[in-house]
Amino acid sequence: MNTKKKTKINSLYIHIPFCDSICPYCDFTKFISKDIFKFGYVNQLIRDLNELIAGNYKFKTIYIGGGTPSCLSIKDLTKLLKKVKLLINFNTNYEFTIEANPESLDENKLRLFKSAGINRISIGIQSFNEKILETINRNYHINYFNLIKTVKKYINNINIDLIYGLPGQNKDELLKDLNNFIKLDINHISTYSLSVNPMSIFYVKGYKEIDEDLSREFYDTILDFLRKHGFERYEVSNFAKPGYESKHNLTYWNDEEYIGLGVGASGYIYPYRYKNYSNLTSYLQGKRNLEKELITKNDNKIYFLLCNLRKKQGFLLKTYEILFKTRFFDDFSGKIEIFLENNLIIVENNRVFCSDEGLIKLDLILKEII
Ligand SMILES: C[S@@+](CC[C@H](N)C(=O)[O-])C[C@H]1O[C@@H](n2cnc3c(N)ncnc32)[C@H](O)[C@@H]1O
Ligand code: SF4
Repeated sequence: MNTKKKTKINSLYIHIPFCDSICPYCDFTKFISKDIFKFGYVNQLIRDLNELIAGNYKFKTIYIGGGTPSCLSIKDLTKLLKKVKLLINFNTNYEFTIEANPESLDENKLRLFKSAGINRISIGIQSFNEKILETINRNYHINYFNLIKTVKKYINNINIDLIYGLPGQNKDELLKDLNNFIKLDINHISTYSLSVNPMSIFYVKGYKEIDEDLSREFYDTILDFLRKHGFERYEVSNFAKPGYESKHNLTYWNDEEYIGLGVGASGYIYPYRYKNYSNLTSYLQGKRNLEKELITKNDNKIYFLLCNLRKKQGFLLKTYEILFKTRFFDDFSGKIEIFLENNLIIVENNRVFCSDEGLIKLDLILKEII
């Protein structure tokens, strides 16, 4: 039996699965851009959005991700954003994010984003080094300083994504990327270690991830550098200046419910987690084909830990007790002690959280506990 109570759903994710070119490391649900597909896709999304509008939904956080949302035309974006705007809960301190790639972002789109209520943007820069960008099929010349200056005219809450461990990247290159980020004077950065997943072109080509020691050295370099510049790591891969943490992503890490629309998107509407099928043709034909997973009480506890331990803040013991009507230490006795003894997990002021070292070893810890 499940004991978690149904709550109001505050968050909406919308997936745009198109990209102008395909990066060899990427295994997200995405397709090379074709206008005719984009047009049909936006129409299908509007059908889904109309259902939410008819159901009087209002969201505190909305995230349009991809793929590359910024590769939609102004016409398609206008149509889509007009509907999404009706779903913003303007009575809250809402956050509405859109993802963009540097080469498909221009002032007209930014103007449109602002008028649609978008107040946060996440730009996938990956690296500032053009040679390294070429290895990931990104062949463009961008003046990032000018780009961010233009973005700031419309949206002040900006994130950039960087990847480390890309082909040809050494520690000096990584530090150059970080220094370039600081020069942009923005308040949030996500840094990911390159993972070579089986569905990616890099995998097929036999490209290998950097080894554990180097990955660790890069990670420590990033942590040290960003902390010195006033950033807090509030999640394994996410750093922000105080007050600029992503509210939408915190929904996931707090293990709260959200609705996911679009091809390959997932959602959590208690007591189900669901994943939309990733087949574009089916979606364009109006099929959603949700794969639903009923969440048991035990699953719930596992998801709770998987999500909450990613955050620097961890979780309150009281929250666990209220949700599950049992005590965390009773549920995980015999498994948790070794991590407490080794200072990988810390309990302080009734809060359970990972130490710096624990966050780095989180996958290992979770494997043992779960
Ligand atoms: C889903 S992508 C979409 C964002 C956007 N299309 C872009 O490329 O910038 C979100 C971020 O995930 C990261 N990412 C995607 N695949 C990755 C991989 N295999 N290894 C590390 N980071 C990855 C990239 O930093 C990317 O910006
Ligand atoms: S990383 Fe972004 S631009 Fe590259 S293929 Fe994936 S979703 Fe598309």
